[in-house]
Amino acid sequence: MASFSALPLDVLGLVAIVTVFTYILYQRFFSPLARVPGPFLASITSFWIAHAYWRQDWHYRAISLHKQYGPVVRVGPDAVDVGDVDAIKIIYGMGLAPCSHGFELIEAIRDRIEILEREVGRGGGNLIGMTDEPLHKQRRRLVDPIYTLKSVRESEHLMNAPITFFAEQMRRHSGTPVDIIEWTNVLAVDVFTAITYGKSYGLLEHGRDPEMLAFTEANWNPYFWAVMVPLLGRLVKIRQRLLILAKVLLSGGKAPLPILGWTTEQIENALQSDESAGNAPTLSRKAIRIHRAHPKEFPRAALNDHMFELVFAGFETCGATIPKIIWRIATTRDFQKRLQTELDTLSKTDTLKGLLTYDQLLELPYLSACISEGMRMDPITGIALSRRVPPEGVRMNGYDLPGGTEIGITPRVISYNEDLVEDPYRFSPDRWLDATKEQKILWDRMDLMFSAGPTACTGKVMALAFIYKVIAAVFSNFDVTVIDKDKKIEEINIFPVKWRKVKMKLSPRKAE
Ligand code: HEM
Repeated sequence: MASFSALPLDVLGLVAIVTVFTYILYQRFFSPLARVPGPFLASITSFWIAHAYWRQDWHYRAISLHKQYGPVVRVGPDAVDVGDVDAIKIIYGMGLAPCSHGFELIEAIRDRIEILEREVGRGGGNLIGMTDEPLHKQRRRLVDPIYTLKSVRESEHLMNAPITFFAEQMRRHSGTPVDIIEWTNVLAVDVFTAITYGKSYGLLEHGRDPEMLAFTEANWNPYFWAVMVPLLGRLVKIRQRLLILAKVLLSGGKAPLPILGWTTEQIENALQSDESAGNAPTLSRKAIRIHRAHPKEFPRAALNDHMFELVFAGFETCGATIPKIIWRIATTRDFQKRLQTELDTLSKTDTLKGLLTYDQLLELPYLSACISEGMRMDPITGIALSRRVPPEGVRMNGYDLPGGTEIGITPRVISYNEDLVEDPYRFSPDRWLDATKEQKILWDRMDLMFSAGPTACTGKVMALAFIYKVIAAVFSNFDVTVIDKDKKIEEINIFPVKWRKVKMKLSPRKAE
């Protein structure tokens, strides 16, 4: 017989067991998502997805989950991952702000940026992660003209000096293997600062910037654990704040990351030299014009924040995408040779070979095919870009999903779908050349690398112009040899999927 003092514990234990059991029964049989297939643990706890993200292989795991369970998979008590190309329009066409697990990460970045910004007197106006939908819509309407193809055409020549310097640096290192990931990251910082302010930040001089890389990785990493665990998330944020504050205090009040102080100075100079700079095509100048025309809708704080987010949004994404495309082309001699032959038809000899305009490069079908195929195989976004179903609910592949359900698509699940792409694990630029018109339309529609709908990447055209120019400059001027090409590449998925320590040798091409 139980003793008197042990009885309350027994009762508590029993209540706990019954509660847990009832909760599991509810999630498995009565929840509106009970019919949606998926791993057992995912249906009862959000820790399942937090752990899955923490393993940093979600971009592979999501593919196998969809193979096992079908196009709609339950990945949390109130979350689903969808693997259907037709769902793109429904999910991202609803005009909803990003939410929860994908969003937690974006919000985390935003939070981190804002903490840093506050230290240098800014904060509050980033588009990335903005949850106020009407305000977001209004800001996008104002800034979108900066990123049209017409506007990119006006500004793209500002990319030429850093790309030329990058090629010079590669020539200087031609006898030795270089870490291409580090080099393309610093190239991206110098290109996006040049196009924003008319002046490069100057990292290419040294070829690396451990501080900036460490900063951005630290941005993503701790939040992975905090994805679904708000308390842990808050603790991580407090820790970050204290660390930054300590850094600022110890440095006597300087910006915690040198580039922050630098960008503040540049925007200040741009505002002061407003008249003398006339119609210079830098992004800051274009944004200042919008600020002057709409001081209320696009105030000074929003201008500052937007200029700052551009460099950060462009640097890691482009910096990580370019080496993957180079790797895919360079690991097979035939691809490299064919691309070089095509580039040679356009390259000038008086300037750096291959440094052509985006418009000229778009005329090269094999180059376009290599880049499209590279981005299909390695979309940098490694987790689902989640949204929350509006109150009226949505019907998705035979399942009625109630309002509030988190719903998203992991880009790789679509681009590796065997029903859409034959032999998807093979890098085949030719598939783009041989594709029918209908196939091309479908493949364009399934491209989620830059997301879709109202929050899709503003910088897509700018990013593509940069990617085209660098790939063309590299293969016009160099024969690329990948070192240890059969070795498994170290990869991390911290929202962007990044490769690490990829060594290549870029040898100047000999005249043929
Ligand atoms: C390979 C390069 C790039 C990739 C893969 C990429 C991808 C993305 C993705 C996935 C989003 C989130 C969209 C969403 O939540 O629905 C985004 C947002 C954004 N990107 Fe990019 N991006 C790239 C380059 C750039 C560049 C070069 C710029 C600026 C010049 C830029 C500026 C932005 C901005 C401002 C947003 C926020 C958009 C909004 O919420 O309205 N990105 N990008």
